Amino acid sequence: MISRFPSFLKKALLTTALLSAGHAYAADTVGLVVYNAQHESLTKAWVEGFTQETGIPVTLRNGDDTEMGNQIVQEGADSPADVFLTENSPAMVLVDNAGLFSPLDKSTLEQVDAAYRPAHGKWVGIAARSTVFVYNPSKLTEADLPKSIMDLAAPSWKGRWAASPGGADFQAIVAAMLEQKGEAATLDWLKAMKTNFTAYRGNSSVLKAVNAGQIDSGVIYHYYAYVDQAKTGENSKNTALHYFKHKDPGAFVSISGGGVLASSKHKEQAQAFLKYITGKDGQAVLKNGKSFEYAVGKNAASNPKLVPLQQLDAPTVDASKLDSKKAVELMTQAGLL
Ligand SMILES: [Fe+2]
Repeated sequence: MISRFPSFLKKALLTTALLSAGHAYAADTVGLVVYNAQHESLTKAWVEGFTQETGIPVTLRNGDDTEMGNQIVQEGADSPADVFLTENSPAMVLVDNAGLFSPLDKSTLEQVDAAYRPAHGKWVGIAARSTVFVYNPSKLTEADLPKSIMDLAAPSWKGRWAASPGGADFQAIVAAMLEQKGEAATLDWLKAMKTNFTAYRGNSSVLKAVNAGQIDSGVIYHYYAYVDQAKTGENSKNTALHYFKHKDPGAFVSISGGGVLASSKHKEQAQAFLKYITGKDGQAVLKNGKSFEYAVGKNAASNPKLVPLQQLDAPTVDASKLDSKKAVELMTQAGLL
């Protein structure tokens, strides 16, 4: 309710709370403000666990990676955000390049496998997702499957695959290809993609179209199929997943990130939130919940239904270098955006 009050009133209320409260966290009745670009249901589960454990309330503002990343950069030091959570790394890089993150506590960084966080420690991986080739087995046999995502540029794939180029998920895949293959090869691939592929809005729509036989195949993230399977399976029952593996650009594992804003006035609580998410209980939400994203904590297990992360043979890509601006520029140049 308090979040709806005009800011001067909110300030007055906070001051009153500050004066009357003996408890450190009761100083702020709004609690932490988290700009959340991760799937809302996953973050809500994290917030519930965190608030239960610490008593710290959390206010979520939801949006997508690019939108929220740009908003934080625009707001700069005046941003009300204490924490930023994303689906993919490029939006974290955007905010980091603007110098807006505060270094994370060592104890938080140490909870996460080094492969799933940038070495500089300004932000950390909170979950991971794998690129996957989804196909309709009535349209493609195993022998027809592409060996590499790069193969989808060949004329033989014209009209046979789909993607959601407007989304941050796919743009992260392109940013990783750019990092792995360089600008010229990526642009060539994107131009061929424009000729070959069919655009859908959102990974779920790609999955549905493949399932319905409207298109043979698509490039999405793995969890869309698992989430659907865990429900009714009606949008995935006619599909199968093919993992490219072999360090292919199409085997890219995208890291969802979390960071504390340097401008946060609740740094201690914000740090505690990221420590919780990356810790035992927070990572268990990934294993036991319905997100089907991968856990990235040291010794943290993912949902047993998933192909183990270690078996995906993902390419090594420095997440702190993923350049969403350049990726979007190339996609625009290729006529995809
Ligand atoms: Fe997604």
